[in-house]
Amino acid sequence: MGLIPQTFIDELIARADIVEVIGSRVSLKKAGREYKACCPFHNEKSASFWVSPEKQFYHCFGCGAHGTVLRFLMEHDHMPFPEAVEELATRLGLEVPHEGGNGAPGQRRVDEPLYDVMSRVSRFYTEMLAKDARAQAYVSKRGLDRETVERFGIGYAPNSWNDVLRRFGGTEDARRALADLGLIIERERGQVREGDRHYDRFRDRIMFPIRDSRGRIIAFGGRILDQGEPKYLNSPETVLFHKGQELYGLFETRRARTNLKRLLVVEGYMDAVRLHQYGINYAVATLGTATTPEHFKRIFRLVSEVVFAFDGDRAGRAAAWRALQHALPEARQGREIRFLFLPDGHDPDSLVGEEGAEAFEHRLDTTLPLSEYLIRELSERSDLSSADGRAHFSENARPLWAKLPEGVYRELMLGRIAEVVGIGPQRLEELWASGNPGMVIAATTPPSQKRVPVRNVNGGRGSLVRQAVLQLVSYPAIAQEISEGERHALEGSEEPGIELLRALIDNLREHPAQNSAQVIERWAGKPGGDSLEKLLQREQIVADAVTAVHELRGALEGLARRVTEARMKALEDKDRSGGLEPEELVEYQELMLSRATRGARGG
Ligand code: UTP
Ligand code: MN
Repeated sequence: MGLIPQTFIDELIARADIVEVIGSRVSLKKAGREYKACCPFHNEKSASFWVSPEKQFYHCFGCGAHGTVLRFLMEHDHMPFPEAVEELATRLGLEVPHEGGNGAPGQRRVDEPLYDVMSRVSRFYTEMLAKDARAQAYVSKRGLDRETVERFGIGYAPNSWNDVLRRFGGTEDARRALADLGLIIERERGQVREGDRHYDRFRDRIMFPIRDSRGRIIAFGGRILDQGEPKYLNSPETVLFHKGQELYGLFETRRARTNLKRLLVVEGYMDAVRLHQYGINYAVATLGTATTPEHFKRIFRLVSEVVFAFDGDRAGRAAAWRALQHALPEARQGREIRFLFLPDGHDPDSLVGEEGAEAFEHRLDTTLPLSEYLIRELSERSDLSSADGRAHFSENARPLWAKLPEGVYRELMLGRIAEVVGIGPQRLEELWASGNPGMVIAATTPPSQKRVPVRNVNGGRGSLVRQAVLQLVSYPAIAQEISEGERHALEGSEEPGIELLRALIDNLREHPAQNSAQVIERWAGKPGGDSLEKLLQREQIVADAVTAVHELRGALEGLARRVTEARMKALEDKDRSGGLEPEELVEYQELMLSRATRGARGG
């Protein structure tokens, strides 16, 4: 087996959710922004094991165990590294690439017999579709071509009370499996005749198999051919199927596209299938439920851009607003969440059929970002021309804004809301915090002094280099904020640890990372790798990305100042011992000037 490329490990760490992985093995409790538990690596009664979703890192204050999700799998499940990678990749539906070698990754677990039942029943449905003229006529009336029907495994459940039962329920065990899978239903007592205790759930319906991320069939949705209730009948919740977590079409999407950049989320089976048929093969459907937080987690593990398409009618708008509310906790810098509202009377299925793929995709490029949708919707509920209306707007915005995770995006959103209200962001936050924002805005109090968090850059927390490194490891994305000038100013520095800081900045500017764990994995086994891990093991000291940028900048300025001062001192010494060359005099004056301007900016 060849080597696993570092870029893949990087991607794995970016997509994995350490809380989910550890949470499925250890019972985690939310504690502020982190999670805690009794440590699985040593015996204890009180919880000293912490998991940070932001850093994607765990740490035990009791025994010192710590690491990324990969390290956790290795130590907790006693897996060797390649197997931990394989396990994580499987969870995320990714295939592990191997450089050089050609060996197949070892045999995985034996397939559960339940999956096998689902797959055999599904095959039966597809065979029935091929045989039934009426079902075929319906499918083609709905505009589905043969290839799409095959790609999605669409079938037909015959109009019979016991076809599935008779074919697949020969033994008591087999019947129990069918019942557990929701394919047959047990009759009420009293109605039971001999040998007729169950009947088929799906009868005379077009069958849409729902697959998990590995392609295994876990449930079905069945559409009635003519009129009737319910229009769609779905599998119940079973051991294989948890409706609120699944996205119909995700497997087909991932099979169709190797580099997936965005997902289009629609409401219906037919919408997803039809869009795929038209080449918009990154469409997935929520199964008639609202978009759940689990959906968002899955989506953002795969892509950073998602567009929700909703029907233009009232129900569509209500669904969109619900989706927005669930999206807020997942909104952050680097992720795009957009909304597309279709013309009234259309759903994606009918629209793409009417106007074609190109026009439909064009709509996708002109969608409303979450922030603007939020502002638009709230604006429509208040009269922004009056102070009272703006106060009302601010009150409505507050609980929504509060759902955003701390970070750059949240700060930007605060600014955007404040802009609409017509006051400064700091002021708005103060008013919200004061508990009676409406009154105060309506009274149009003059904005108070700008509130700038005053922090001692090197507040007793180790050297400037250490400070800068800590901020970078905690919020790797802020490396993008460092200017050429700031980076260049570190060249002359001889502070201990400066090589690591310079290397970090260069690496993160060239290959942006989303979280701490990625940085740790990149530095694993390299000089400085251990000290990075040690830094992260300390308690949460870095408040949020905005503060982190502020502190990073402070530390970099401090370092630059020291370089300047050291150089000035060298020149002064030289002046005393033998005099300066004209260029050196000029250099000295420039250094004095740069020190003065830096001082004036209060760095
Ligand atoms: P729609 O009624 O919008 O369905 O429900 P659709 O996809 O446009 O259906 P067609 O075009 O009439 O065939 C959207 C989704 O809500 C769920 C299904 O997942 C459906 O695709 N739904 C709807 C149900 O689960 N049960 C129902 O009775 C109706
Ligand atoms: Mn439809």
